[in-house]
Amino acid sequence: MTKESPINQSLLVVDNLHIAVEGKEILKGLNLTVKAGEVHVLMGPNGSGKSTLSFCLMGHPKYQVTAGRVLYKGEDLLSLAPNERAKRGVFLAFQYPTAIPGVTIANFLRAALRGVRGADVPVKEFRQVVKTQLKSLGIPDAFMNRYVNDGFSGGEKKRIEILQMAVLNPSLAVLDETDSGLDIDALKTVAEGINAQRAPERGILLITHYQRMLNYIKPDVVHVMVDGRIVRSGGPELALALEAKGYEGFRPTEPGHLPEAGGRGSAVAVGEGRGNSVRSSS
Ligand SMILES: Nc1ncnc2c1ncn2[C@@H]1O[C@H](COP(=O)(O)OP(=O)(O)OP(=O)(O)O)[C@@H](O)[C@H]1O
Ligand SMILES: [Mg+2]
Repeated sequence: MTKESPINQSLLVVDNLHIAVEGKEILKGLNLTVKAGEVHVLMGPNGSGKSTLSFCLMGHPKYQVTAGRVLYKGEDLLSLAPNERAKRGVFLAFQYPTAIPGVTIANFLRAALRGVRGADVPVKEFRQVVKTQLKSLGIPDAFMNRYVNDGFSGGEKKRIEILQMAVLNPSLAVLDETDSGLDIDALKTVAEGINAQRAPERGILLITHYQRMLNYIKPDVVHVMVDGRIVRSGGPELALALEAKGYEGFRPTEPGHLPEAGGRGSAVAVGEGRGNSVRSSS
């Protein structure tokens, strides 16, 4: 898709980001720009740093920023506390959602919505919003009275993550392997839920291992991340190439191949093909 972004300003600019966890460098100069209205897909081998990036964007204290910066709507995201990030519209769907025994989904969602809005949410409005979303995501109403993720199947947890996104209406949604563990029908339902969230003012960063999700969601840009950096960016065909050939051809052979010189915030395409025409300035 090559439509022009309706808002000129970038929603998210990750600029030369370096992150260390317990003294080990995980992200090694990551550049990524997401404009409002765009869906970006991030793929990469296990351990390449995808979840590290998503935790860092949300403000997990374990991840130390050793260099670089992140601008969100032009503001320094890294200086904000996690709840302030959420209030400004940043949302993360976890790769491994945590159970919260004792807290029902209904109470959890209402508290989250209150936190994000900074004001109480009328019961009637809350019920209406949730009801509509439950229906479209195929989640039985009875789930609202269950404890968050407590005893949920893998696929149920993923649906609940998308329910949270749909209720909270974020401006930037980072979805970390939301497609993993879903059966074929659930994959379609969840993909439809994500598609329904596509909006001119919203950016979505979808982390996935498989191109099957892209049978339903057409991304604007696909990025390949290897060893803490984005080494290639292109269109959906990049996901197909990965599926066919794996990551071998994407591993840098020399440091000079990496997108160090890509300029601020742009996900630089390295190598051949359409990848060179990544729309860093669309
Ligand atoms: N506390 C820690 N101490 C040492 N290494 C860590 C720590 N936390 C994360 N790492 C390492 O950081 C690297 C990146 O992990 P991350 O979870 O970001 O990878 P990922 O790309 O999301 O992988 P996957 O596709 O398996 O989800 C891994 O090698 C992981 O072992
Ligand atoms: Mg991960």
